[in-house]
Amino acid sequence: MRRIDLLGVDEVPDGTMKMAWVDGTDQVLVINTNGRLDAVQGVCSHEYFELDKGFLTASTLTCALHLSRFDLESGEALDPPAELPLAVYAVVVEDGRILIDVPDGPLEVND
Ligand code: FES
Repeated sequence: MRRIDLLGVDEVPDGTMKMAWVDGTDQVLVINTNGRLDAVQGVCSHEYFELDKGFLTASTLTCALHLSRFDLESGEALDPPAELPLAVYAVVVEDGRILIDVPDGPLEVND
């Protein structure tokens, strides 16, 4: 298991999302909805498109390229054309930092 430091809690105010880089190659999107923090893969599972350009509701994230919606909790794709879920990562908040706990090895990303 490894714990990865993404961002400061104050960098992601309620109702916003912000991208963080992991290992210099992967992007993780941190989302704050009503004070709940979620972390999901930063690039769409359908094609290469950065999800911080998407649209947020209380429980979903919509990809701006082809408008698939994803459930923030499960990562599940709710409409076509995306079929694969987004990888979701376990968030831990510690000392004002947002971290994720992930298995050792390369970050899991669905594409
Ligand atoms: S790239 Fe996101 S739905 Fe197509």
